[in-house]
Amino acid sequence: MLTNVLIIEDETRMREVIIMLLSDMNIKFFEAADGAEAIEIFENENIHLVITDLKLPQKSGMEVLAHVKENRSEVPVIIITAFGSIDNAVTAIRQGAFDYVTKPFKEDRLRSCIKKALQISHLTFEVKHLRQEIEGKYNFNNIIGNSPEMCDILRMAGEVSKTDTTVLITGESGTGKELLSRATHINSPRSKGPFLPVNCAAIPSALLEAELFGYERGAFTGAQQRKKGKFEMASGGTLFLDEIGDMELDVQSKFLRVLESHAFERLGGDKSIQADVRIIAATNKDLEKMVAEKLFREDLYYRVSVFPIRIPPLREHRDDIPLLSRHFVQGFSKAFGRKIPMLSDKVLEMLVNHPWKGNIRELKNVLERAMILSKGDRITRRHVVLNETHEKPFSTMNIDQIVSLLIHDYRVGIEELESKCITFALERSGNNVSQAARMLGLSRATLRYRLEKMGLPASAKN
Ligand SMILES: Nc1ncnc2c1ncn2[C@@H]1O[C@H](COP(=O)(O)OP(=O)(O)OP(=O)(O)O)[C@@H](O)[C@H]1O
Ligand SMILES: [Mg+2]
Repeated sequence: MLTNVLIIEDETRMREVIIMLLSDMNIKFFEAADGAEAIEIFENENIHLVITDLKLPQKSGMEVLAHVKENRSEVPVIIITAFGSIDNAVTAIRQGAFDYVTKPFKEDRLRSCIKKALQISHLTFEVKHLRQEIEGKYNFNNIIGNSPEMCDILRMAGEVSKTDTTVLITGESGTGKELLSRATHINSPRSKGPFLPVNCAAIPSALLEAELFGYERGAFTGAQQRKKGKFEMASGGTLFLDEIGDMELDVQSKFLRVLESHAFERLGGDKSIQADVRIIAATNKDLEKMVAEKLFREDLYYRVSVFPIRIPPLREHRDDIPLLSRHFVQGFSKAFGRKIPMLSDKVLEMLVNHPWKGNIRELKNVLERAMILSKGDRITRRHVVLNETHEKPFSTMNIDQIVSLLIHDYRVGIEELESKCITFALERSGNNVSQAARMLGLSRATLRYRLEKMGLPASAKN
């Protein structure tokens, strides 16, 4: 594997010496004479190791070290220090530097230090990569569910993953939108390319533009170096636009232009850059409603919803709850190094009947807590702590939300609902049929007919 090493040293001669000394090591060198230049390179290239002098003309080696540790802490940084200024090197090591070498270089010392650093750096990269591969975490096989609803979704995602088509995944919070997006990428011809998520809700609109399209040095106050945007970095891969419903209207227009032309410019730049990127977007908002309310651009809506996939809330595919529960319990057992405990029938029944406002994420959390509480080889009702069912008080809900709550959560049928409404109206009117009928928007005769049908005595006053 070719290794990318960034050397930061203001003396050209010194850089040449290092490069010459390491010329047999299968390394691609990137050179910078100052910290600011170095950070720009670091931001735009996949650097595996940094070697830096501490004293530099503008941005110091310590600042470079801080930047690396903050942004990609797995990259080792080796400090070059002048003989006799070991104190600085020690401070740097405390701040996370891997090691230091003193000038003038002793060839052996420099080589062995770099070899060690690279071993560790490669190991970290490899472990990261292997872990993902072994777990096969984002494979469709790891999306659990064999209800007709989930089977349909997996079939659709399987088909669309073979293409470059833009996908819009909708569903309540915790239904698995990100999981499905990642699986769609992993099973696509772009799987070797990056999968880059951008959370449109977490980033303020002004920064979101910079995050998506990148910027040139000096594009705005604080833009000290050129930075590639996510669009550019995702080239050859997939850009996952999470919470797209939260994207502000001005960013929406810019984004629409990119989708139409497949090209964009960095902020403060005029060079047009081609984007070879597949878009998967997700939201828990009702985009059609937002379009009607002029909160989401209609033209953008049609662009992103070329292939919409709606993941239903968990309460609409309760058949999957036992399977999902066993899957999570197995996962936690492995992680905790424990035998897989049994889930009692009562527990499964409780889990199947819970309203699951937080969907699959909530189920997963409940089972993690249950595993911790149970300790033994059985999870019983004692170990399962379910959250209160209402996130919102009734008074803040609209009629659709109330109906959804009654039908999905309370599982009230139409007849029960009718009888409850009638009983309520009669109680409120002090058993006055005419008043109760008015309250219910029915004629007196109709109410009497319904009372009879329900087997209730129509013995009320008028
Ligand atoms: N079908 C599934 N099988 C297995 N695990 C699942 C499934 N769906 C979701 N999960 C797990 O549930 C958790 C939540 O999923 P994810 O983050 O994809 O949801 P989301 O819809 O993106 O949520 P949010 O809207 O809150 O961002 C994750 O730990 C995920 O691995
Ligand atoms: Mg998500």
